[in-house]
Amino acid sequence: MKRLRLGVIGTGSVVREIYQYLYFHSAYSHLLSVEGAADPNGQALAWFCGRFGIPAERRFDSYEEMIERLELDAVHVNTPDSLHCAPTVHALERDLDVLVSKPLADTAVDAHAMLTTARQRGKLVAVDYHKRDDPRLVDVAARYRSGVYGQFQVAVWYMLDKLMVADPNHEPRFFASDDFAVKNSPITFLTVHMADSFLQTVGLRPVRIRATGFSQKLPSLTPIPVQGLDLCDTEVVFENGGVAHIVTGWHLPNTAHSITVQSSRLICTDGLIDLAMDMCGYREITSEGIVERNSLFRNFETDGRVSGYGMSYPGRLLEKIMSRRDGEMGTEEYEAMMSPFETGFYTTAVCDAAERSLEAGTRSKDNVIHGVDVDVAEVLKDELGDAANDYL
Ligand SMILES: NC(=O)c1ccc[n+]([C@@H]2O[C@H](COP(=O)([O-])OP(=O)(O)OC[C@H]3O[C@@H](n4cnc5c(N)ncnc54)[C@H](O)[C@@H]3O)[C@@H](O)[C@H]2O)c1
Repeated sequence: MKRLRLGVIGTGSVVREIYQYLYFHSAYSHLLSVEGAADPNGQALAWFCGRFGIPAERRFDSYEEMIERLELDAVHVNTPDSLHCAPTVHALERDLDVLVSKPLADTAVDAHAMLTTARQRGKLVAVDYHKRDDPRLVDVAARYRSGVYGQFQVAVWYMLDKLMVADPNHEPRFFASDDFAVKNSPITFLTVHMADSFLQTVGLRPVRIRATGFSQKLPSLTPIPVQGLDLCDTEVVFENGGVAHIVTGWHLPNTAHSITVQSSRLICTDGLIDLAMDMCGYREITSEGIVERNSLFRNFETDGRVSGYGMSYPGRLLEKIMSRRDGEMGTEEYEAMMSPFETGFYTTAVCDAAERSLEAGTRSKDNVIHGVDVDVAEVLKDELGDAANDYL
C-alpha cells in the first residue's frame, strides 16, 4: 500500500490539540507520510517540524512553495476559517485532494469557490467535522432518518465553553491572543459544530435565520476587557417549518464540569430525544476538581496511541482520499462526498447568514443585539448569483 503523501498547511492550535496525534499516533498514522509543512509563523512551524523530525528543507513559510517543491497526494488545510479558501483552491488547481479543518469556509462564496474548483479538477474536498463520528450522534441521526420520531418540530442545541476560553486575563492562556474573542464569535467557533451535527441529524435544508447576540459579560472582564459576544442564539427555520435554536457561548464560570458544556433536545411529532453530550459516562475527581472526561473524543491509550472520534473521522476521510487517488472511488460515492450536506456547505451558509443577521441588527442599551430575519436563499443569491440555484 502506497502511503498518502500529505503536506500540512498551518501548524497552530488544532495541530497541537488534535492532528499531531492523527498524523503520528493514531490507527491511521501508518497510512500517512507527512512530507512537509508550511506556516508563516516560524514558531508554530519549528515546534511541529522539530517535534516530528521534519527536516529544514521540508519546512516552508509559504504553502505555494511547499506544493511546488514536494511530491504530494493531498494537503491538510489548518489555517484560520477565513483563510481556508486560498490554499484549498491553490492545491486543487495543482490536482491535490484537500482535507480541511472544520468549517469548509466562513462564507458561502468561499465555500462555493472551493467546491467548484474541486469538481472542475475531479478532486475531493473533505471537511473534518469530527462530531459527526460521535457514536451517539451517529445513532440519533440513523434513528431520526428511519422515522421513529416522526417530523422534527423544535430543537434546542447548545454548546457553552468555560470563560477561560475567551478570557485573555486567565492564566495560563487558553488561546494565546488577547483579541481571540474579539476576532472570533461563538458563531464562527462553536455554532458551526452544533449546526453541522443538527443538519447531519435531520438532513433538512435551512431556509431562514435570525440571531440574537449578548455582549454583557466579556466587556466587564478586567484588566483586559473584551469587546466581543458572550452568547448567541441562532434561530434556524428549516424547509419543513421546524425551528432549531443553536445556542453557543463562552462565559460559563470556570468551575464548569467540562471545558465545553453541551446538550441537545429535539422534539418531534412522534417522540423526543435528550442528548447530554458532555456526559461521557466517566467522571474524574482529583485535587483539581470534578471533571467529565470526554474519552469518546480523544482517548490517550497506555501504549501511546490516541483514539476516539477526533481521530476516526479525519482518519476515515484520509482513507477516502486514498481511495480516490487510487481510482477506487466511483462517481456515486464521489457525488455523495461532495454534496452540500457532506461538505458542510449548508453549515457555512447558516453561520454566514447568522453573522449577517447580527451585522444588520440593533443593539439595545443592555448590549443585546437583536438580529434581523435573513433568508438563506437571498444570501446565496447575493453571494453566488445564478450559482445559488445549485444549493436551493
Ligand atoms: N483549535 C481547535 O481545537 C480547533 C478544533 C477544530 C477545528 N479548528 C479549526 O482549525 C483551523 C485552525 O484553527 P487553530 O485553532 O489551529 O488556529 P491557529 O490560529 O492556532 O493556527 C492557525 C495557523 O495557521 C497559520 N497560517 C495562517 N495563514 C497561513 C498561510 N497562508 N499558510 C500557512 N499557514 C498559515 C497561522 O500562522 C497559524 O499558525 C480553524 O479553521 C479552526 O476553526 C480548530
